[in-house]
Amino acid sequence: MAPDFVIFGAAGDLTSRYLMPALARLDESGQLPKGVTIRGVSQEDWDVDRFRRHIADRLATLHEDIPPGVVADLIKRLDYRQADVTNRDEVAEALGKSRGPVVAYLALPPRLFGPTIETLAGLDLPEGSRLVVEKPFGSDVESAKRLNRLLHESFPEQSVFRVDHFLMKATIQNVIGLRFANRIFEMLWNRDNIERVEITWDETVALEGRASYYDRSGALRDMIQNHLLQLLTLVGMEPPVTMSERDLRDRKVELLRAVRNFTPEEVERHTARARYAAGTVKGVAVPNYVDEPGVDPDRKIETFAQVTLFVDNWRWAGVPFVLRSGKALASDRHEIVVHYRPVPHLAFHEDHPQPNVLRFQLNPDRMSLGMNINGPGDPLDLERVELATDCCQQEIPAYSRLLLDVIKGDPILAIRGDEAEESWRIVEPILHAWAEGRVPMRDYPAGSDGPDLG
Ligand code: BG6
Repeated sequence: MAPDFVIFGAAGDLTSRYLMPALARLDESGQLPKGVTIRGVSQEDWDVDRFRRHIADRLATLHEDIPPGVVADLIKRLDYRQADVTNRDEVAEALGKSRGPVVAYLALPPRLFGPTIETLAGLDLPEGSRLVVEKPFGSDVESAKRLNRLLHESFPEQSVFRVDHFLMKATIQNVIGLRFANRIFEMLWNRDNIERVEITWDETVALEGRASYYDRSGALRDMIQNHLLQLLTLVGMEPPVTMSERDLRDRKVELLRAVRNFTPEEVERHTARARYAAGTVKGVAVPNYVDEPGVDPDRKIETFAQVTLFVDNWRWAGVPFVLRSGKALASDRHEIVVHYRPVPHLAFHEDHPQPNVLRFQLNPDRMSLGMNINGPGDPLDLERVELATDCCQQEIPAYSRLLLDVIKGDPILAIRGDEAEESWRIVEPILHAWAEGRVPMRDYPAGSDGPDLG
């Protein structure tokens, strides 16, 4: 039986920016089971019509591309209840008397995760119910462990979805397909053949009015601690025995365990942070980050972070993995790039041909392999070519695919509790050293390629 959705934090940005469009697209593609109710819950003193108007307005502003008929169909399915997540009776009333399992979706500020889980734990949800938790899951190792303990008192790990929509992007999933279904890549996937890996998520968007969340987070916590470390697991993990939830997640957490724990000196050497200054992005003026409404300069939040990590195991010893993400940059560059080592000896005229480069690129989605071949002219001259495929354009957004897994009850691409703790273990020493001022906060003009790290 398909579960009903109860979205806590229904008046918030995440619900209208990601969840509602995802549900609309699922509905449009015929994959949202018909009888499923979608109930928004928030503290706002709204009735169902007010909630529906709010969602319709936000979709019209943020997602003009969704056809009006599709929005109208979704709006009809929405229900609403006002409730305070710490009040057991109100939450019980908001959940209603569902005949079957429910999906309790916590699209809430992180400080409310603990209290909401406690409230839900006391309510004896129907068998098969699922709990979805957005990021950030904790703020350090200790708080992630605390949340995990709390969750496990009432929910089996299998029914907890710590979601990361990056794992639902088709091109990202193809890292696994390419590696583990083709002999020619996996055999060379190691320190002997690969020089470095770059995982880059440069964005043109600036704060987008999200100061209340972002100015407590910053690029390291918003992007690297979760999304980019997850991409690292797919690139670096050992081959799973089967594509089952347990085998895949075991291999991912093993990889995270092998990531080096930085000393403060290593943080100084291998990390950089910066924030944008006034500039122009795609012809639109962007103010200094610290002058954006809602930003507190004393928090010293970065809008750009770069971290070079090392995976200390036989496969990857000595290979740098450069993870980088920033906002208000010149262009959207979303990619994983694997740089191979040069050939051991070159018998051609060309002295320094570029070594092979394997690129997983998103928006537009494309996988390519840069190679050197003989050109049409002198047979001893080399020419650069690319083998490429635009294979991975997906039909529904990443968030829709994430919701499909929740509906199916399959957590294979959700973050397991130990993965979340291990990710904080990697990031924590960086946060500490940054808080001590060991790494300078640089500036970069909005609309530039980022700070000068030279
Ligand atoms: C979100 C971050 O999780 O991912 C945002 O909070 C970021 O800051 C976004 O912009 C990027 O994801 P996508 O799928 O929109 O490229």
